[in-house]
Amino acid sequence: MIYQVYPRSFADSDGDGNGDLSGICERLDHLVDLGVDGFWISPFYRSPMADGGYDVSDPTDVDPMFGTLDDFDALLAAAHERRLKVIVDIVPNHFSDQHVWFQQALAAAPGSPQRARFIFRRGRGEQAELPPNNWPSVFGGPAWHRLPDGDWYLHLFAPEQPDLDWTNPEVQAEFERIFRFWLDRGADGFRIDVAHGLAKPEGLPDFDLSVIPSHAEGAAMPSPHDVRWDREHVHDYHRALRTVLDSYEGSRMAVGETWVPDAERLARYVRKDELNLTFNFDLVEAEWSAVAFRKAIDDALTAMSEVEAVCTWVLGNHDVDRPVTRYGGGVRGLARARAAALVQLSLPGAAYVYNGEELGLPNVDLPDEALKDPTWQRSGHTDRGRDGERVPIPWSGTSPPYGFSTAATTWLPMPEGWGPLTVAAQREDPESTLSLFRRALQLRRSLLAFGNPALDWVDAPGETVAYRRGDLLVVLNAGAEPVRLPAGEVLLSSGPLGDATLPADTAVWLQG
Ligand code: GLC
Repeated sequence: MIYQVYPRSFADSDGDGNGDLSGICERLDHLVDLGVDGFWISPFYRSPMADGGYDVSDPTDVDPMFGTLDDFDALLAAAHERRLKVIVDIVPNHFSDQHVWFQQALAAAPGSPQRARFIFRRGRGEQAELPPNNWPSVFGGPAWHRLPDGDWYLHLFAPEQPDLDWTNPEVQAEFERIFRFWLDRGADGFRIDVAHGLAKPEGLPDFDLSVIPSHAEGAAMPSPHDVRWDREHVHDYHRALRTVLDSYEGSRMAVGETWVPDAERLARYVRKDELNLTFNFDLVEAEWSAVAFRKAIDDALTAMSEVEAVCTWVLGNHDVDRPVTRYGGGVRGLARARAAALVQLSLPGAAYVYNGEELGLPNVDLPDEALKDPTWQRSGHTDRGRDGERVPIPWSGTSPPYGFSTAATTWLPMPEGWGPLTVAAQREDPESTLSLFRRALQLRRSLLAFGNPALDWVDAPGETVAYRRGDLLVVLNAGAEPVRLPAGEVLLSSGPLGDATLPADTAVWLQG
């Protein structure tokens, strides 16, 4: 079980309103207490922060906002002392436009080797005044930006994030250097950003834009006809990374962020000589229904078992609405998020939990002027972006900044009313979401860690999902009415149980 730390929002040690590496170090006991096996840190490298640090201007140095390389080494040592693994986030699809390579590319002429590290093309139209193809950027607007000399460059994300050309051996060699830099320092592994996007199709053809799901349809998986993603030769790059990982002592790993059309396409990323893990986003996508949950689980288990890989279950991260909010918010949203967590944590395979999920935090409605996500600007103020799930973690106290920082203002404002949600408030309360996670992780270790029992579906009526793993029986009631509670000793439930019944929006772990 890996915990995702969003470093700008986790803990601020120097009082500038931004979280940092020393802040993580000071709060490591929270992770030990929770019972996780390790943590993944979202990017903390040098960055102008045009996309929350996913615009990297120096991938082998720490941004002063987050500290220094010495702070990283200290964090790594402190984590390893506590037997926590540390996974760092590598962003291979693009660099920041402030990276020295891109600065050199700007200074060089069209057609130069400096430009060949990125994806520069001539435009269409008589004056080359039209973008080279019709691709949109993920953050809105076209995926091309024109320079004064007439050349266009590709940015699948923000214009400050020019895409790299992975067919260029120089790019491949540079990333091998970056991987080795962090492995040599002692990192246990990598989360690979946009692992499905590194390979671009030959000739960069137009495609039918109607295959892109509208924002209103949610963060749906890309269509197989969206040629920007999941191209065949991307697998060569993951095989090369795996060779580097396997050349190191101890167990080093990589988990991919791969948004692809279905579980079968996903499984291709975790074939024997590729990535070790890849996020199964099916539970993030699943609506609140027994059918959707069963299908998400079944599809993933079937596809992954065909390549003899394990599933990596996710309910949230820094890019999607928090589960509490996705499931409707308020008391009901929280009840469902707690129930979903008991499903997630009892499934076979790895689980990733995003910081704040263990506290049952909801998204925050931020005022327009507080928004930092480039999506807000690029969508012409129609899509508020991802800041709502990135608000800093409340540690203690009854008013902002809740022990996150000593500064009065934090990089994203924290709301009133989070006193009961702080780590300090939840730690002593046996009914809290934090206590639920802690207990679930203890049981997961004692009941499921050894032998990794397979999942066997149990016949369940209507809106219930039920499965057995060894001695453990898991039942989720995703319906609106209570259902009969099966026989067995109740080990844990996500909410209060009725008299021999499992209420709506509740999950239970039973033994026997
Ligand atoms: C990934 C990251 C996201 C970022 C994007 C571009 O999807 O998780 O936060 O904006 O890549 O790097």
